[in-house]
Amino acid sequence: MIFSEVRSSVLAIRLTTGPERLDTLVLPVRPGGPADAGASAELVPTASALPDDVLAEAAALAPVARLTGRAGQTREHLRPTRTPERLLLLGVGDGDEQGWRVAGAALARAAKAEPRLAVALPDDAPAAVRGLVEGLLLGSYRFRLTEAGEAPALREVDLLVTDVEAYREVVELARTTAENTRLARDLTNMPSSVKNPQWFTAQVEAAAAGTPDLHLRVRGPEELAAEGFGGILAVGGGSASGPRLVELDWRPAGAKRHVVLVGKGITFDTGGISIKPRDAMKLMRKDMAGAAAVIGATLGAAALGLPVRVTTLAPLAENMVSGSAFRPGDIIRHYGGLTSESTNSDAEGRLVLADALAYAVAELRPDLLVDLATLTGANAVALGKRTGALYSDNDELADELLAAIAAAGESAWRMPLAADYVEHLGSDLADLHSSPAGASSVTAALFLREFTGDLRERWVHVDMSAPSWAEGDDAELTKGATGWGVRGLLRWLATLD
Ligand code: BES
Ligand code: MN
Ligand code: ZN
Repeated sequence: MIFSEVRSSVLAIRLTTGPERLDTLVLPVRPGGPADAGASAELVPTASALPDDVLAEAAALAPVARLTGRAGQTREHLRPTRTPERLLLLGVGDGDEQGWRVAGAALARAAKAEPRLAVALPDDAPAAVRGLVEGLLLGSYRFRLTEAGEAPALREVDLLVTDVEAYREVVELARTTAENTRLARDLTNMPSSVKNPQWFTAQVEAAAAGTPDLHLRVRGPEELAAEGFGGILAVGGGSASGPRLVELDWRPAGAKRHVVLVGKGITFDTGGISIKPRDAMKLMRKDMAGAAAVIGATLGAAALGLPVRVTTLAPLAENMVSGSAFRPGDIIRHYGGLTSESTNSDAEGRLVLADALAYAVAELRPDLLVDLATLTGANAVALGKRTGALYSDNDELADELLAAIAAAGESAWRMPLAADYVEHLGSDLADLHSSPAGASSVTAALFLREFTGDLRERWVHVDMSAPSWAEGDDAELTKGATGWGVRGLLRWLATLD
């Protein structure tokens, strides 16, 4: 079977002062007092005029249903023959954005059999709306390629507010964030039999088409060879599907700052001739999650019309085992001329990223340079399964990105570009050794830094191998690709002007 197109159907979310139909009414609840005191939940005061008897009934329900108001709690209450015929109490925690995001995701799951919902919302709570909408759209995500499994019935969510205009912008922000996160998930979940570099390129082309000020340039093997992208060509050389370099440029008029985002785009990583053992290989279709995230963030920036120029580079290659694959011990000449000795063909991500970084530094001259990559298994060893490893020599820039990532409900932790390993970067035969001894997430970052030239202090690298994938549904994450990075990057880009 050939799957040419996949797009999971998205919930319709509407702001309204009064729903056309009221089947299931969702009422948010929060902790009524300190949790350790065993206090039960209380209703969050909402803005729209709801019948007093409904509110009284809901308020009385919370203690009886033993709700604490913790974010993500849900309790359904049936009221046959009355309107609404179903109440759903939804715990939103202490009212912060992440609590509402967790609640939105829990709601999408708890109510998946309901065709439509109406959620009563408080006034003056943009963070609540942002979290709720993102949670609904992310928690309801499913990757669907075939007709297997049951599709959820939930299609429409009405947000009940008193002032529709007041929330329009924040709903758009949340929707754009979630839709591009979903796009990154779709790209990352797609099996590698479909998702070769050419297919990925075609998806970007389709997604970027029709947006003014958004420009796409794609280099194929010939152009890459003519311009000296030796790392991308070496890694992509073993595959029947040739490599590509996607350059997607959001160039709004009047932009004062220019950011380059780079994302690792290995559409499948066998390890190459230094082949991976089978368990380590089985999920390697996700090895382009960095590319998917930076593309998602850039499309999001364009959709929101953010006043910052964003150029995204996605080096795409399939790391295969074949007669034309690169070999351990090969010497690679990267874009711009730096050479590396590669004794382990499984350290392929840094080789394609090195070309892209060197190209960005030499030709694009951005103000800031950020790369995202599923670079090492060591990310999860050091930081667990939800947290990316962030590296930078620039404290201020690192702090800004960490703050944006955390605010978006993602997680990253600053790691050291440890000086004690720098000596291991040396090679007898080339400028650099591509898999130096030492802590591998750290040494990979040190290797990449060598390609940042005079922009070294304007560069951030994030190893996001761990948080790019979830083993099961977890709050706004769904089993499989998480789209990690889209939310944090978009949040950060929105702070630049
Ligand atoms: N794509 C892998 C890293 C990876 C591992 C991502 C597990 C997600 C989950 C990368 O190309 C790789 O093979 N890294 C090696 C580096 C080593 C050869 C220096 C690793 O982590 O073992
Ligand atoms: Mn590898
Ligand atoms: Zn890899």
